[in-house]
Amino acid sequence: MLFPILLLALSPVQASTVPSNLFSPLISSKILKTSNTLPSPIKYNQFTTTSGNWLFFVPDTWTSGFFPSTPYALDARAKLCPDQADSTNWVDLGRSLSTGLIPLEHSNTQGHDVGFLSMPFQWELLVNPQNETAIQAVNAFATDLAARYNPVVGCTRSWDTADPTDFTVIIDNMMNLQVLFSSYNLTGNTTLLSIALTHARTTIANHIRTDNSTWHVIEYNSTIGSVIRKRTAQGYADNSTWSRGQAWGIYGFANVYKQVLGTDNEDEVFLDTARGLASYFLDHMPGDGIVPWDFNAPAEGTGSPLAGVVPADSSAATIAANGLLLLAQVETNDDLKQKWIDGAINILDKITTLAWKPSWQSLLSNGTVNRPANNFATGIVYGDYYYITAGNMLVEMGLAQC
Ligand SMILES: *[C@@H]1O[C@H](CO)[C@@H](O)[C@H](O)[C@H]1NC(C)=O
Ligand SMILES: *[C@@H]1O[C@H](CO)[C@@H](O)[C@H](O)[C@H]1NC(C)=O
Ligand SMILES: *[C@@H]1O[C@H](CO)[C@@H](O)[C@H](O)[C@H]1NC(C)=O
Ligand SMILES: *[C@@H]1O[C@H](CO)[C@@H](O)[C@H](O)[C@H]1NC(C)=O
Ligand SMILES: *[C@@H]1O[C@H](CO)[C@@H](O)[C@H](O)[C@H]1NC(C)=O
Ligand SMILES: *[C@@H]1O[C@H](CO)[C@@H](O)[C@H](O)[C@H]1NC(C)=O
Ligand SMILES: *[C@@H]1O[C@H](CO)[C@@H](O)[C@H](O)[C@H]1NC(C)=O
Repeated sequence: MLFPILLLALSPVQASTVPSNLFSPLISSKILKTSNTLPSPIKYNQFTTTSGNWLFFVPDTWTSGFFPSTPYALDARAKLCPDQADSTNWVDLGRSLSTGLIPLEHSNTQGHDVGFLSMPFQWELLVNPQNETAIQAVNAFATDLAARYNPVVGCTRSWDTADPTDFTVIIDNMMNLQVLFSSYNLTGNTTLLSIALTHARTTIANHIRTDNSTWHVIEYNSTIGSVIRKRTAQGYADNSTWSRGQAWGIYGFANVYKQVLGTDNEDEVFLDTARGLASYFLDHMPGDGIVPWDFNAPAEGTGSPLAGVVPADSSAATIAANGLLLLAQVETNDDLKQKWIDGAINILDKITTLAWKPSWQSLLSNGTVNRPANNFATGIVYGDYYYITAGNMLVEMGLAQC
């Protein structure tokens, strides 16, 4: 009897398996139900109450692109999993949900988040590359982001500030570079490409600590380009590592590398940076495999609804899983590739066990929108969106079956 016990004790942590809920029919039924409850004039769901009911926000909100992108992701799902597809016309639904975003092309207050607002139109171009409305939207949002570029700093400005020389860039901004790549692809305007690549290089220089964790916010002086301050906005402390920021970084740098691969701009520095951020993320996961809202956050004190617990962030988990899978797609080292895949599957497995909530309107619970602002223990629209796209990526990569 000793032998098997020893074997068990010596074997590495049990490998995770792809959670079947990634392909649950509840996903499409919840998305349809939510789309039928959006207010008129349209508002979009962003996060839920702590009992799982969606709260709705005007279109001029940074998260408005996620819900309209979700039906497109389910259209992609239907093509990947034809045996499970029903008769829903997901593209029609995506198109109709997107119409509320079109006025934002000409006027919005979302700063760098125009990249996120453009997402449904980027999805539309995968379905119909000729769609003029979508082409115009992607180009307009890209022009918006490009107008926020400062060559002295070498970045696009994330948030506006009262003092315009105080130039704020957050790690999240790496996600929004995609709209510049897409518009470059459509127009051939190399200025857009060069802005995206310079932003990424400046971010490597200033946002990443020597241990490959990330600062959330860097304030630059827009007149002279110097760094004024490094701090947090949504993390636990200035010097802590906010997990969603780290996750945006993994995805953002893996994506930049993917975009330059095979072009004159191919540069291993983007791959290496994504690797460093991914390693930090996986090497700092707690033993239970649940992504905490901040890698340095302590357990909640008495008086907190989650006293004694370090609150999870299910959205950081699903974003990181997407980033790790994207990194695996471009990884050249087989051992590292396996590490990114195993890491992604483990994160998805553990977050599904914790946060899959059939009784909630969202797919997942345990999201942390903003812990310092006391907004946590909710469902989050981008957590759900990236849960679905993670499932799609696993199927596309041959790592899961529907
Ligand atoms: C083009 O995309 C827009 C915006 O999503 C949509 O409203 C429209 O129906 C699409 N048109 C065609 C011809 O595909
Ligand atoms: C390319 O994009 C930049 C940034 O939006 C813009 O200033 C410039 O006019 C564009 N160039 C052309 C040829 O359209
Ligand atoms: C940026 O530098 C200029 C010139 O030195 C200075 O006048 C300005 O106050 C600085 N801005 C900030 C936010 O530090
Ligand atoms: C650019 O266009 C090509 C072909 O039209 C497409 O395969 C590729 O995915 C596009 N890339 C981006 C970033 O949109
Ligand atoms: C952050 O700074 C505080 C105060 O100096 C220190 O106690 C803490 O260990 C630091 N945390 C990290 C993750 O470096
Ligand atoms: C940080 O990441 C870089 C690039 O992947 C790597 O070379 C370096 O060893 C990493 N540093 C630490 C402390 O892990
Ligand atoms: C997850 O949310 C449930 C309530 O929905 C809560 O009881 C639990 O402590 C949370 N766990 C974490 C790690 O956030």
